[in-house]
Amino acid sequence: MVTAAQKAAIKDSWAGVDLQVAGNAFYNQLQANAPDAYAVFNLGSDSGKIAAQGLKVMTFIDGIVKGLDDMDGVKASIDTLGGRHTSYGAKKVHFGPAGPCLLAALAEVCGGKFTPAAKDGWTALYGLISDGICAHLS
Ligand code: HEM
Repeated sequence: MVTAAQKAAIKDSWAGVDLQVAGNAFYNQLQANAPDAYAVFNLGSDSGKIAAQGLKVMTFIDGIVKGLDDMDGVKASIDTLGGRHTSYGAKKVHFGPAGPCLLAALAEVCGGKFTPAAKDGWTALYGLISDGICAHLS
């Protein structure tokens, strides 16, 4: 459940964020703090691959943020994404460690706009994404 106040805080913090910069920050966090999850992506230290994968994840998140006023649509697109993750080698166990990495990356790229309310909103949104993907995984 993402409340109206949380949605507003998420949108405020996300405005103007560079998707590529955010993607790089997320994969840097994963590499440093969630190595088991990072390994599943098979990126090694190839900066071109890291950038491409980071952009894919953040483009998806950008679509979710833009769709927050249509939660049925948001849940449907997370569900479809979750179905695709079954063929990627991702496991439920990877999603716990990935959450703090996403929040840390957002703290970096949103700067002063990453207020306590924004953190609260993003925590709820990550929960929704994670639960929706993990429903497909073992
Ligand atoms: C915020 C959470 C996540 C989001 C939004 C997300 C989103 C995406 C997107 C958009 C893609 C591109 C391909 C596609 O659209 O199907 C992708 C690929 C992938 N994801 Fe995720 N993902 C998340 C978390 C994870 C986690 C925790 C793992 C497991 C460690 C994982 C493993 C993978 C793998 C292995 C690929 C394929 C990469 C390749 O092309 O080789 N994802 N993800």
